[in-house]
Amino acid sequence: MNDMERTLSIIKPDATRRNLTGKINALIESSGLRIIAQRRIQLTRTQAEQFYSVHKERAFFGELCDFMISGTVVVQALEGDNAVAKYREIMGATNPANADAGTIRKEFAESIEANSVHGSDSQENAATEIAFFFSGLDLVG
Ligand code: RTP
Ligand code: MG
Repeated sequence: MNDMERTLSIIKPDATRRNLTGKINALIESSGLRIIAQRRIQLTRTQAEQFYSVHKERAFFGELCDFMISGTVVVQALEGDNAVAKYREIMGATNPANADAGTIRKEFAESIEANSVHGSDSQENAATEIAFFFSGLDLVG
């Protein structure tokens, strides 16, 4: 089945701080996913709160936003067959203690919060999240 999709990837501050952008993107590219847009940015608190607004009632919301603005992030749009599910598979479980061997979070994550990467959880959310950071003209393949 050829099901070309896009998903939104964020390399989080714990990973950029440790100079892991290239190692993480090597795993992404090895999986067959293509990085079709990319920006290295510092999120404002307002942007972090808006991006994670689905989690605003969760106990960890404030800490999560503090963490996401604690350093630079790399926001990327990925494209490939079944990109949403494939990227979540190579990210591994939210808590690195539960992540499978060889996944990004097993290899690199520090904790359930400082877990190195974000990936969209559905095609619908992927479209919203990509549009949050990129215009159509930025998606260059
Ligand atoms: P993400 O959205 O970042 O791809 O991660 P996910 O789907 O695996 O996890 P989600 O439930 O959406 O949680 C979003 C992010 O919040 C932080 N978190 N902290 N302290 C905690 O118990 C806790 N739980 C989640 C993580 O950074 C998680 O990726
Ligand atoms: Mg999530």
